Amino acid sequence: MSNSLITELNQLLSNFHVYYQNTRGAHWNIKGPRFFELHAKFEELYTEALTNIDDIAERILTIGGSPDHTLETYLEKSVIKSVKNESNDESLVKMIVENLSALISQENKVKEQAVKDGDSETEDMMIGLVNVQEKTKWMFNSWLGK
Ligand SMILES: [Fe+2]
Repeated sequence: MSNSLITELNQLLSNFHVYYQNTRGAHWNIKGPRFFELHAKFEELYTEALTNIDDIAERILTIGGSPDHTLETYLEKSVIKSVKNESNDESLVKMIVENLSALISQENKVKEQAVKDGDSETEDMMIGLVNVQEKTKWMFNSWLGK
């Protein structure tokens, strides 16, 4: 597989780590009357992200690359910014929707490169991720009344 594919997958891995930590922060810091539903929902998101992160890193290894693995690299590369000290429910849900959009955009880049390289398995993996995240985005947007 091409170096471009590995580069795009590593970009996704960095984005995912910051997203993961943002969902943990949301789970811990959420306040207000909708605490219980969102506290549980954010836990679902980071649990799912953990599996996705491992799958992406191991796909990189499978196709002959090496996955980035340090926090310094993740913070340097990620287009998703880390969110600090946010406890407002609507702000947190908006943050999740924005983060998911950034993930989907990078997954589509990976998918395009995978198609160029004839790597159907990576393409399939990206289709799976986008499918789930688009649905999650729809649900959070509905929660926001959009
Ligand atoms: Fe917890």
